[in-house]
Amino acid sequence: MDATIGAGGHAEKILRASDPDGRLLGLDADPFALEIATGRLSEFGARVVLQNSNFENLERVASAQGFVPVDGIVFDLGLSSMQLRDAARGFSFAHEGSLDMRFNPATDTTAADLVNHLRERELADLIYEYGEERASRRIARAIVAARPIRTAVQLAHVIERAVGRHGRIHPATRTFQALRIEVNRELDVLQKTLEQIPDLLAPNGRVVVISFHSLEDRIVKNFLRNEKSLRVLTKHPIRPTNEETLANPRSRSAKLRAAERVDE
Ligand SMILES: C[S@@+](CC[C@H](N)C(=O)[O-])C[C@H]1O[C@@H](n2cnc3c(N)ncnc32)[C@H](O)[C@@H]1O
Repeated sequence: MDATIGAGGHAEKILRASDPDGRLLGLDADPFALEIATGRLSEFGARVVLQNSNFENLERVASAQGFVPVDGIVFDLGLSSMQLRDAARGFSFAHEGSLDMRFNPATDTTAADLVNHLRERELADLIYEYGEERASRRIARAIVAARPIRTAVQLAHVIERAVGRHGRIHPATRTFQALRIEVNRELDVLQKTLEQIPDLLAPNGRVVVISFHSLEDRIVKNFLRNEKSLRVLTKHPIRPTNEETLANPRSRSAKLRAAERVDE
């Protein structure tokens, strides 16, 4: 199972490696990602089942599709480069898009709703907790003073004016991360989903999780370590090589952790 099918890159490799009869169930919360993956994986025919669903429904979808017990589950968390480039989604402060940030456009709250309606204190706490941003109070004050904020670029400017620019990382990066986590309830969903995994895996079945920031990685690390029916295969997380980060700069923060189901 590929819980985050995206453009289908991992799925294609898994299907080739499990030729000729390996089957794959792929999920994505984003209906646009699913369209692209459907095209890319069409040559595999009935070996692939794709579903537009949040991975918090993993257990239900996997049972309904006859995929339990499963030999392997992979999660490649966060955003695809496709989503980041799509201005209309508002994930990136490099594009003049509306401030949306929902993985699935059918869910309720957008980043613009949070930015324009939360109380200053709530906004500051959110940016501190999910962005691990020390300048959270200053940023929240500047946001409230600049309301209404409609676009990603506008928000990035407000933050840059409030805290200035130091170093290579844009000063809005952490705030954008915080808003995205809250809009998609990412940490909550991840925790609840990991808890479903032991019951889904076949004996010796493996789970692999690639995470992109420390809040996510901590949840994965603690879960794998504390779950008695899993044996951790990565004492230290696997990091990208230098060649990989050169070829794909977004991989620089990636950490891969894996575990195997053991028989009780
Ligand atoms: C980094 S991309 C995956 C790229 C994919 N591995 C590939 O090879 O093309 C992450 C994908 O996960 C999806 N996603 C993030 N959180 C999700 C969730 N809770 N449920 C389902 N899909 C999610 C995003 O919509 C995005 O398409």
